[in-house]
Amino acid sequence: MSQPTPGKVLLSADQIATIVARLGREVSHDYNGRHPVLISLLKGGVVFLADLIRQISIPHHIEFLQVSSYNGSTQSSGRVRILTDLGVSIEGRDVLIVEDVIDTGTTLAYIVDTLRLRNPGSLEICALLRKRVSNQAGIPVRYLGHEIPDTFVVGYGLDYNENFRHLPFVAELDGPAR
Ligand code: IMP
Ligand code: MG
Repeated sequence: MSQPTPGKVLLSADQIATIVARLGREVSHDYNGRHPVLISLLKGGVVFLADLIRQISIPHHIEFLQVSSYNGSTQSSGRVRILTDLGVSIEGRDVLIVEDVIDTGTTLAYIVDTLRLRNPGSLEICALLRKRVSNQAGIPVRYLGHEIPDTFVVGYGLDYNENFRHLPFVAELDGPAR
């Protein structure tokens, strides 16, 4: 049986670059003078973060948080655990969560609840992709790159069983796993 492979390209590298440049301008404008902490969600968010910060023209810090909610499948398990926590206190800081894709919203809802307990000065979300999902948790996304259909995607940091993160574009996953 053949393995799932990247199929139809939903966002080309050029389209992603245009989106990330826009998001960088918005963040630079809104956070001017505030020295925000950008929190990237490992592992999928690192490619997006790396490109985004090079489009941000104001001083800021970066931190990483790793949570687990998917167990090597294309369906959300609905369970979230912190695997790697932040290295600093975020009390009083302006925090911007940098996420690759919002699917059910379960992961972000948990992270937002957890980080709010640490009393940040503000807490907002920047997501590259959001799926059009009917029962998505009502997460307010301050900065949104692009909306995509409710389909499993890979590339630009996003994986299927740890594969395909390196692709410079975002593509639908084709094959038997779907
Ligand atoms: P949610 O909790 O259902 O919103 O899922 C969020 C996380 O699941 C994302 O941060 C991704 O790491 C992962 N994920 C969700 N959809 C996809 C996808 O289509 N491709 C790859 N990873 C995904
Ligand atoms: Mg993620």
